[in-house]
Amino acid sequence: MQEQVDYSEAIRTKYPEQVVIVVARDRNGRVNPITLGWTMIASGEPPMMAIAVARSHYSVEAIDHAGCFTIAFPSAEMAEAALFYGSHSGRECDKFTECPAPTAPTRDIDSVILTEAVANFECTLETRIEAGDHVLYVGRVVAAHKSSEPKKRLYTLGPGHVLGPAS
Ligand SMILES: Cc1cc2nc3c(=O)[nH]c(=O)nc-3n(C[C@H](O)[C@H](O)[C@H](O)COP(=O)(O)O)c2cc1C
Repeated sequence: MQEQVDYSEAIRTKYPEQVVIVVARDRNGRVNPITLGWTMIASGEPPMMAIAVARSHYSVEAIDHAGCFTIAFPSAEMAEAALFYGSHSGRECDKFTECPAPTAPTRDIDSVILTEAVANFECTLETRIEAGDHVLYVGRVVAAHKSSEPKKRLYTLGPGHVLGPAS
């Protein structure tokens, strides 16, 4: 049986929600990380991934400028960085200076990968769709990287950005 409720009530059942950190280089040459929950695999062949970024976020400017971005699956140990990147704007600060995370050069695009993440995907911008108050970016995966050590992914476990491993 199903009970009709408001969207806001039904969508609260979504947890645990995966977390990604997306990195794009802005017009000043600075790499800017942003934490996102709204993300999905969009195509298998060729591999594509999608992210939804609020129009007001600085990352929209950075991604539009760069035309490429990295999607990292942060490890459970990266909760503090994910919270910082998800609560500060690249418009006001250099997030990697204020909350450093180890990075390494990308192979095929102009960005960086996060070396403590479970996996990283280098994406070139394939499609940009205006979707209400967000911009939906579909990226084509041109290179992928995986941690050589076993690591657990980071999830949002409940409302209020409670972050941790799913199990
Ligand atoms: C766990 C978590 C998930 C988030 N998910 C999203 C998301 O899916 N889309 C989005 O636009 N912002 C999301 N945010 C908020 C942005 O990360 C945040 O507003 C960030 O400071 C914007 O950075 P920028 O201005 O440098 O782009 C999330 C934040 C957290 C902590």
